[in-house]
Amino acid sequence: MSAPIRVIQWTTGNIGRRSLHAIIGRPDMELVGVYTHGQGKVGVDAADLCGWPEPTGAKATNDIDTLLALRPDACCYNPLWPNIDELVRLLEAGVNVCSSAAWITGGKQSPQDLDRIRKARQRGSSTIFGSGAHPGISNTVGMVLSGACERVDEIRITESVDCSTYESAETQKAMGFSRDPDTPGLADSVRRESEVFAESAAMMADAVGARLDRMTFDVTFTAATGDTDLGFMTIPKGTVGGVYGYHRGWVGDNNVVSVGFNWIMGEHVVPPKPLEHGHVIQVFGLPNMRTVIHCLPPQDWTEPGFMGLGMIYTAMPVTNAVPAVVAAEPGIVTLADLPPITGRAAVDNPENAVVP
Ligand SMILES: NC(=O)c1ccc[n+]([C@@H]2O[C@H](COP(=O)([O-])OP(=O)(O)OC[C@H]3O[C@@H](n4cnc5c(N)ncnc54)[C@H](OP(=O)(O)O)[C@@H]3O)[C@@H](O)[C@H]2O)c1
Repeated sequence: MSAPIRVIQWTTGNIGRRSLHAIIGRPDMELVGVYTHGQGKVGVDAADLCGWPEPTGAKATNDIDTLLALRPDACCYNPLWPNIDELVRLLEAGVNVCSSAAWITGGKQSPQDLDRIRKARQRGSSTIFGSGAHPGISNTVGMVLSGACERVDEIRITESVDCSTYESAETQKAMGFSRDPDTPGLADSVRRESEVFAESAAMMADAVGARLDRMTFDVTFTAATGDTDLGFMTIPKGTVGGVYGYHRGWVGDNNVVSVGFNWIMGEHVVPPKPLEHGHVIQVFGLPNMRTVIHCLPPQDWTEPGFMGLGMIYTAMPVTNAVPAVVAAEPGIVTLADLPPITGRAAVDNPENAVVP
């Protein structure tokens, strides 16, 4: 029996509020603070921010010093855009960071920013880790499936979904949606915005012992043939309604790892490949392995629509990793370094009670 892990939740958007809800419900974690980006939620109890039935006493703040003074062990970091200054403050204060925000290995960071992260985590003897659904669990499943192969030629992961219910207009526009497909530099901008997928490809290559000599990115934009109003954004006729692309890692002429997406938004687009409504995991080799991960509603699902399920699917691989990340040797740790990250059984085990 040990004391609960002291956790702060960083932002309370689509993913952050699912993480917040899970932290409050876990006996082995204690929610000690909540960071909110804007002014609107400052002073609001965490319970009201995530739909928890009783007040928690933890009120949201946008003051990092207030949060660090609470001496948290870990932070579930889910902002819209990650910020190196924030990560440095957290890591150098000894806070272990579990992120869904564009972090898998840190490989896409500039050398200067990565150096700042490394030095901060050394000063704080802390750990940084990133996961999610995709990248995240999808890569773990790819690595695990490769364990069935005598020979691995390529691990290919494709998020094959209709993103219309993912209400993060900024994220969607950054990935090209609703933009003119002929916008100069659009493909390169999508490459940069999605570069965390390249990090996850490199992680998988490393796991199967392939030393990549280069990464490439290819993308096809499909224009919508009619207008769609999604409420939180519109996809006008003629603008990007489909984005199909891969970050690929190569050893010579061999495409060893590919991580990408076949995304559509709106009602008027036909993607280059039929949607599979999930994460398609393929390992080519001896033998070929394939599975599709579907995220489906349980019988007791009461929320309107299914967007919340995808948000839980994205949040939990990060939140559930907190105990393993806190226990890990300090450093940059990846999904390939940690033991399997599991969820928690929905039963009360008296012997698992934690002593505050
Ligand atoms: N790996 C995966 O599978 C995966 C999948 C989807 C998303 N993601 C990533 O997870 C993160 C969160 O996604 P989300 O859908 O939850 O995003 P979101 O709801 O659009 O925004 C998250 C929160 O970020 C804060 N915020 C708003 N403007 C900001 C800004 N300019 N800079 C920093 N923070 C800002 C707000 O917090 P408050 O409301 O508390 O003020 C907002 O609610 C993103 O980085 C996204 O790319 C990962």
